[in-house]
Amino acid sequence: MILTEIDHIAIAVHDLEAAIAYYKDAFGADVHHREIVESDGVEEALIKVADSYIQLTAATNEDSPIAKFLSKRGEGLHHIGYRVDDCSKALAEMIKAGAKPIDEAPRPGSRGTTVAFIHPKGSFGTLIELVQE
Ligand code: CO
Repeated sequence: MILTEIDHIAIAVHDLEAAIAYYKDAFGADVHHREIVESDGVEEALIKVADSYIQLTAATNEDSPIAKFLSKRGEGLHHIGYRVDDCSKALAEMIKAGAKPIDEAPRPGSRGTTVAFIHPKGSFGTLIELVQE
């Protein structure tokens, strides 16, 4: 088994502050980490749940994949991050199993992680992110 943890569940939102306030009111949740990833056009707020995260994600510009997702599908579940020990190895195994990679090779993600995205087509409709801490 290559997966070691559900790293995060990413939820696309229009208004990051409103989503953070809602999670605080509803769950008493505090933001554990916040980051703008300019290369991906996203701003994230991570809420820690045990050893996993809820990742509230908003777009920082109109060309952002999150902006496109929001205009097409509206707010909601965007992708699931699966934690792995070795992103490169996990990506190779997934490709061998028929997955369609978005990233041909692992690249830097938020929190200093190494990540690779897999297209939902070929993965039963779920955008998958492999996350190596
Ligand atoms: Co993610």
